[in-house]
Amino acid sequence: MSSAIMPTYYSQLPIAFEYGKGAWLWDTEGNKYLDGLSGIAVCSLGHAHPSITAAICEQANKVLHTSNTFLIPKQMKLAERLTQLSGMEQAYFCNSGAEANETALKLTRMYARKKNISQPIVITMLNGFHGRTFGTLSASGLTRLQEGFEPILPGFIHIPYNDINALAALTDNKNIVAIMVEPIQGDGGIAIPTEDYLTKIRALCDQHDWLMILDEVQTGIGRTGHWFAYQHFNILPDILTVAKALANGLPIGACLARGKANNLFPPGKHGCTFGGNPFVCNTALAVLDTIENEKIIENCNEIGTYLLHTLKETLGSIKEIITVRGKGLMIGIELDRPCRDITLIGLKHRLLFNVVSDRVIRLLPPLIINKEEADQIVNRLQMIIKEFLQN
Ligand SMILES: Cc1ncc(COP(=O)(O)O)c(C=O)c1O
Repeated sequence: MSSAIMPTYYSQLPIAFEYGKGAWLWDTEGNKYLDGLSGIAVCSLGHAHPSITAAICEQANKVLHTSNTFLIPKQMKLAERLTQLSGMEQAYFCNSGAEANETALKLTRMYARKKNISQPIVITMLNGFHGRTFGTLSASGLTRLQEGFEPILPGFIHIPYNDINALAALTDNKNIVAIMVEPIQGDGGIAIPTEDYLTKIRALCDQHDWLMILDEVQTGIGRTGHWFAYQHFNILPDILTVAKALANGLPIGACLARGKANNLFPPGKHGCTFGGNPFVCNTALAVLDTIENEKIIENCNEIGTYLLHTLKETLGSIKEIITVRGKGLMIGIELDRPCRDITLIGLKHRLLFNVVSDRVIRLLPPLIINKEEADQIVNRLQMIIKEFLQN
């Protein structure tokens, strides 16, 4: 670790990667690793995918950036593709998940003004994670991340995740304008809500004229076996945020809106320099095309089901494992004890993953993995967990 870098990441592992291919990465010593993390749900098409590399080179040879002062045809095309895939109607582009969520939060303020609510409240979830900017940090329900940055912004009520009664108990509060929630909590420990949770939230939002904001920064772009996780439940949010996998490693975020969330920003009210530039939008278009052409979501469903089943079968008898749970290729293995250091044993066995909520092993492999690679994840993980428990 260089002292010239602010030490913000306490768990930086002692290796660096030189190159990758598909679901595999090689470190600077030439060791080969199976990627079970995809740079935290980003490189869903794996590393050095030829179609993505070609799109990057093609656009780099033309123009990278012009600014939103001018029309950006690739941005318009990407907005059209994303709205068509998601059922949303308008898109705003930025550079990260936090920025996409910040945009969503600012939309709620515009919505509140329209409704003459001067002290608007957004309901968010305990253990939820929406980013590290002041707005998104305040929205997040991971209090340990907020510690030291107080005072955090007012205007949020945090309630337990997957508790529809806690939400229903707030319906008398006339200052509430929106609810913001992850369809599956990622950093909160791969928490999967009950089947009717999102549908019930949708109904309460309709009943009380609240905006339903779904943070699909981690779950979106095919990760759970649909383009977006809410598509498992036949509902639509009013606002949808995406980032991470949208350009397979180039920084991009998007906040999408529809219906009463459309046209809330008047010109000049919101924006950013890099957002939606030709380079990143062309790459994102190539990502969406590749997902479609190569039937990546079908693969995610097939291999995700197989991997989850095999993990349950193989690890089920280990008494220290509380649950193996997941949807698509977003999988959590919860141990009965803190296990942050297990990632080091993972390195020894050349498997990459991380730990969330202190004791949940999080697997987010590229959506392109095949059955043999899924088997290797299971075999390596079995050895890793056994070795961890013996220590
Ligand atoms: C659900 C969710 N929302 C927001 C974010 C923040 O995204 P970013 O790190 O790109 O700002 C993350 C990042 O992990 C996330 O998982």
